[in-house]
Amino acid sequence: MKPLPLRLGVNIDHVATIRNARGGRHPDPIRAAKMAAAAGADGITAHLREDRRHISDADIDRLMAEIDLPLNLEMAATDEMLGIALRHKPHAACIVPERREERTTEGGLDAAGQYDHLAPMIRQLSAAGIRVSLFIEPSKQQLDAAKALGAPVVELHTGRYCEVDGAARQGELERIREAAAYAAEIGLECHAGHGLSFETVGPIAAIPTIVELNIGHFLIGEAIFGGLDGAIRRMRALMDDARGAKALSA
Ligand code: PXP
Repeated sequence: MKPLPLRLGVNIDHVATIRNARGGRHPDPIRAAKMAAAAGADGITAHLREDRRHISDADIDRLMAEIDLPLNLEMAATDEMLGIALRHKPHAACIVPERREERTTEGGLDAAGQYDHLAPMIRQLSAAGIRVSLFIEPSKQQLDAAKALGAPVVELHTGRYCEVDGAARQGELERIREAAAYAAEIGLECHAGHGLSFETVGPIAAIPTIVELNIGHFLIGEAIFGGLDGAIRRMRALMDDARGAKALSA
């Protein structure tokens, strides 16, 4: 099939991580969001964690006020975060699992096991005009649960695909491909993200039913060596190349 256009959401959390290491205002994640817009990002993603270890409430206020690109707010499924999302009404909310002791979002949301908890939240977010996505493992069971919950979008967790090598990575890629095809079959918009780098992005970008990638940590790290603008432009080019190559062979 002909691939759909592929959007890039730039996650700016780790600009805030560096700022918070010293306190104060530098480096400013909103300045990074503006640079991302100029470098070709289609959206900005930020995760307001319960412990506020990187993005702060004031950052969300400023992102809503100062950035023209759509904001994808990553949030845990808690009443506090639901209230914040309903107050700000970002373009999108991505519900993620969250544990205080983890360094980053480890594993996907158990959409299947938390049906009763998630259903009213998804209803309220959707009623407020917020596009809800669920960050899940690439599994049929989780996709069926997302569909049953009425979420219009899923984001497939690419963390494991990025962590492993060789045959194991191929196996993970196949799992993501199958899940992305199944998502389209049951009428879910499919996104992907976590851990993506220049090395790992191509095969994911080539999957024709994935329409958005959310990428953060690698881009912010790479910015140390070559600047944020260049890192985002190169990622965008790698995504476009992978998509174009796939289109030609389709
Ligand atoms: N998508 C989701 C749902 C995430 O939670 C994260 C990490 O905050 C990302 C994408 C981006 O992952 P990374 O920072 O590893 O690129």
